[in-house]
Amino acid sequence: MAVAHPDLSRAAGADLPADPADGGGRQAASWRWPLGLLAAWGLGWLLHAALRAAGTAQWVAAAAGLALVLLLARRAATPLRRSVVALGYPLSWLAAGTALPGWAWGAALAALLLLYPRRAWRDAPLFPTPAGALDGLAAAAPLAAGVRVLDAGCGLGDGLLALRRAYPLAQIEGIESSLPLLLAARLRCRFARLCGGDLWRCAWSGYALVYLFQRPESMAPAWAKACAEMAPGSRLASLEFAVPGVAPEARLACAGGRLLWLYRVPPPDRISSAATPRR
Ligand SMILES: C[S@@+](CC[C@H](N)C(=O)[O-])C[C@H]1O[C@@H](n2cnc3c(N)ncnc32)[C@H](O)[C@@H]1O
Repeated sequence: MAVAHPDLSRAAGADLPADPADGGGRQAASWRWPLGLLAAWGLGWLLHAALRAAGTAQWVAAAAGLALVLLLARRAATPLRRSVVALGYPLSWLAAGTALPGWAWGAALAALLLLYPRRAWRDAPLFPTPAGALDGLAAAAPLAAGVRVLDAGCGLGDGLLALRRAYPLAQIEGIESSLPLLLAARLRCRFARLCGGDLWRCAWSGYALVYLFQRPESMAPAWAKACAEMAPGSRLASLEFAVPGVAPEARLACAGGRLLWLYRVPPPDRISSAATPRR
């Protein structure tokens, strides 16, 4: 049975790592995503409403709203986000044409918030590690039996399963901020120690390897946290996203076409100032 692990639930205080969303500014980060998305859709609808109020034809108002949203979509950080911003507006048009009761919109929003609490939006929503993606990991980063390995943001447990395949003798642990995803991971990965919480607030000390499948902006703060908390020689492994400006120990081509980036925590006197967590 999965149990909470004391180290994972420890809340950090002043030594919190920089926020992943902006490389340091917690406050600014919360305005970026998903608020940027909501703002783009809202402005699209606002322009549409203003043009309609001024007597403009429906199709012209709709096209102007869409053009504005497409323009704003270009400012989103990743291709996936650009598509979400761009497609959401025409989809909201379709949805607005259906006769859904008001409470259904509220219920959908509540379900979304339960699935993805606020912080999860700023790191990464659910994209599971593809099966077999970590098969080359143990050869590149051999670990002793019994060491602790963390999937930081374990989602439904696919990363935990892949880590278990790679390191059958390691103690596999996970932390996840979304309660429904955590419960699903607990059902699927009874071999793992899992707990609910924020991956940035749990201690990474004591882990021989921390595995991440988050997003590009998470990588610099993740490296700073690893250097601040993990023992020299331990490892940070990241699927898809590299730590900017840091030479990896290895870069593995995984099944499914993704890259796995492997970093080794250096001794304290070799940690560059770029890896110092901001306070
Ligand atoms: C791309 S998914 C990866 C899931 C899993 N690691 C895997 O590889 O299959 C990222 C996961 O991180 C979780 N997450 C995002 N931000 C988090 C945070 N601050 N603390 C804990 N979990 C977080 C999300 O809810 C999501 O389940």
